[in-house]
Amino acid sequence: MSRLDIRPFEATDLPAAAALLAERHQEHRKRHPLLSAAYEDQQRALVEVTAVWESEGASGAVLREGDEVTGYLLGAPKKSPVWGPNIWVEAAGHAVRETEHIRDLYGAAAAKWVDDGRIAHYTLVPDDAALLDAWFRLAFGSQQAHAIRPVPSVPIPARPGLTVRPAVRDDISVLAQLDLSLPQHQGLSPVFSAGTLPTLEEAQAEWEEDFEDPDYVTFVAESNGKVIGSSVGSSIEKGSTHSGLSQPDNGGFLGFAAVLPEARGLGVGRALGEAVLNWSAEMGYDSVVTDWRVTNLLSSRAWPALGFQQTFHRLHRLIGH
Ligand SMILES: CC(C)(COP(=O)(O)OP(=O)(O)OC[C@H]1O[C@@H](n2cnc3c(N)ncnc32)[C@H](O)[C@@H]1OP(=O)(O)O)[C@@H](O)C(=O)NCCC(=O)NCCS
Repeated sequence: MSRLDIRPFEATDLPAAAALLAERHQEHRKRHPLLSAAYEDQQRALVEVTAVWESEGASGAVLREGDEVTGYLLGAPKKSPVWGPNIWVEAAGHAVRETEHIRDLYGAAAAKWVDDGRIAHYTLVPDDAALLDAWFRLAFGSQQAHAIRPVPSVPIPARPGLTVRPAVRDDISVLAQLDLSLPQHQGLSPVFSAGTLPTLEEAQAEWEEDFEDPDYVTFVAESNGKVIGSSVGSSIEKGSTHSGLSQPDNGGFLGFAAVLPEARGLGVGRALGEAVLNWSAEMGYDSVVTDWRVTNLLSSRAWPALGFQQTFHRLHRLIGH
């Protein structure tokens, strides 16, 4: 095999990269037609790749075969300390004609990242088995799932013995407790998430301030007069995890759900998720998006059981051992 022509990414590569990205998205939408059709258009794809290229500290590599660009990879650091000394390859940060070439591109781009001390790598990859396999053979593993489903065509009926209703101000103390129960659960094995844990007082103060926010809907599940779980819905634009190519048009968002530990596994989470699905249909959304840590043994089973299909995999690699 002749040596591949791989060079550092430059601004002049943007249009060719956008064409490849639009092609990748066309293939992706064959599996997930609910994803936005907009990015099948090269001009819209160009806006996305340009945004990645213009992010602070962005760098990457481009592959040419003859006169044609047939692959690119772009990464940039995120500021939040939660990700460590990081580089992120966003959904618009890579596209290749031949999946194997992502390994060559990463080989070229990652040298600088690691030289700069950026050893925590993240990449958002469409659910393309061959592409994922190529990333796995770069020592990446699966960390987070992005998923979508259509809104229900008819309302999902309530479950007997369980009341699910919109939250009221009197629920705030238990809502704060439920807010904490997610990072508490995700701090445990096998998630070991480094997410920060607010105090109960901080969580409660935040609820007091934001309770009337019209952009969000909060449901609580009540059994025997006691609130045992909550869920939060909004439009997808409110969820920072789903931007650009992973953000469908006119989508709802299941942004949060938690059930108190003693009440888990009994159908409460399903009922709370279904309340957000029904609400999304009432709001006129076409789809609902959610995401979860794939190491979370509870959410990674609950959300697929509610019909969510994975669209993107966030992969992670920590270099050094
Ligand atoms: C995730 C969570 C909200 C789910 O709520 P829950 O009440 O425990 O879940 P449910 O009992 O309603 O189960 C939901 C579905 O998952 C399925 N499920 C649950 N455990 C399962 C297992 N071990 N294997 C396979 N499926 C499983 C259930 O069977 C159910 O589907 P079904 O109704 O078709 O049978 C809850 O477990 C929780 O609060 N976890 C901690 C916080 C958290 O992870 N929040 C979500 C963040 S994304």
